[in-house]
Amino acid sequence: MVANKMWGGRFEGGPAKIMEEFTPSIDFDKRLAEQDLAGSRAHARMLASQGIISKTDADVILKGLDAVAAEIAEGKFAFRRDLEDIHLNIEARLAEIVGPAAGRLHTARSRNDQVATDFRLWVRAACERADGKLTELIGTLVKRAGEHTATIMPGFTHMQGAQPVTFGHHCLAYAEMFGRDRDRFADAQKRLNECPLGSAALAGTSFPVDRETVARALGFARPMRNSLDAVSARDFALEYLAAATIAATHLSKLAGELVQWCSPQFRFVRLSDAFTTGSSIMPQKRNPDAAELVRGKTGRVLGDFVALATVVKGLVLAYGSDLQEDKERVFDAADTLERSLAVMTGMIADLAVNAEAMRAAANAGYPTATDLADWLVRVLQKPFREAHHIAGAIVKHAEELKLDLDKLPLAEMQAIEPAITADVLNVLSLEASVASRMSYGGTAPERVREQIILWGKRLP
Ligand code: ARG
Repeated sequence: MVANKMWGGRFEGGPAKIMEEFTPSIDFDKRLAEQDLAGSRAHARMLASQGIISKTDADVILKGLDAVAAEIAEGKFAFRRDLEDIHLNIEARLAEIVGPAAGRLHTARSRNDQVATDFRLWVRAACERADGKLTELIGTLVKRAGEHTATIMPGFTHMQGAQPVTFGHHCLAYAEMFGRDRDRFADAQKRLNECPLGSAALAGTSFPVDRETVARALGFARPMRNSLDAVSARDFALEYLAAATIAATHLSKLAGELVQWCSPQFRFVRLSDAFTTGSSIMPQKRNPDAAELVRGKTGRVLGDFVALATVVKGLVLAYGSDLQEDKERVFDAADTLERSLAVMTGMIADLAVNAEAMRAAANAGYPTATDLADWLVRVLQKPFREAHHIAGAIVKHAEELKLDLDKLPLAEMQAIEPAITADVLNVLSLEASVASRMSYGGTAPERVREQIILWGKRLP
């Protein structure tokens, strides 16, 4: 076993065999290659313009970094575990390509500020990807809502049919949730956009670096103000994971509804062949696998958040190798979230709505009883509590006669409350019920159409 050639100056022996499997992060942090190259380019340029390295060396380094980038892009780069991570892999290959000048790139830099910078760049891009995918999903929900502003379905509380709502309104409820998810990623992105480079190992550097210029070259708003914080902070990754977890819970709720809705007991929707699978034993089955997996994967994303929160919670300042555990959690959450969003968008775009089944379900269980009570308040000036009582008695009577409320003869209602007039019949149908929910944010088709117009302005 020989000592590591990148840092082994004071070592005589090499690492234990098991360490070759235990310490390297290259298997996963190769995903930071693009960010690492960008950071190195900005750093090399700054070193030259500050006179810390020569212009000639910087040019040699920059050309060499281009060569490394090309090898990685073409899949020709040999990632080596004995070189631990992406930072040492790139630097070692750079040295092979350009010779001794490569050794000057690491002046005024440490892998600690390097990895913190690379990772911020990666998470920033992940926030942007999440935003794009959320926007596509919202656009699809809004489009489906537009097709179904007046399609009646049961609205539930306690999973009991409560009051009729429209499918368009239901779709827009999810558009609101995913809209807030976009805000959360944008907010996380704003806060993370500060540059650690130039903090070096933990204390800053004695070289006359220009951190402002490096920060701006990498699209950061400013350099981080405290070097100890810069190399050790991972709250930006936690914020990403928190936003991802919340978005995943929204996906999970919607996925859960789809699973219910496509069951033969509900038949509210039919999912396309593209997002369902058959059973290997029961030929009649058509399983909502995609929706179930989206729901199931929520646990992974939350697990990623919990895992990283647990890593960082007891760490002393500044960098510790524990932090190497940050990347896999974020990569896993990002992959999971992005795929789940794409799958959900596909399912929503494809699903066929069974308006008759929705309407029939909405009609079960006297869903317009509240409308009857409201009429008694509005027209007969009853206190709501009394109206609630009278409506309850009328529902009970309708149940005995096995009739819907809007089919119950007026005389039967008058037997319970003599002051009731034929005008009440205008409020007892499902259509009348939803049309009357005109309060701001309500389910009335007119209100839903207004919201769709507003969404049209909010979406790119
Ligand atoms: N692979 C390391 C990580 O992912 C890079 C930083 C290592 N720094 C160090 N001093 N060992 O965090």
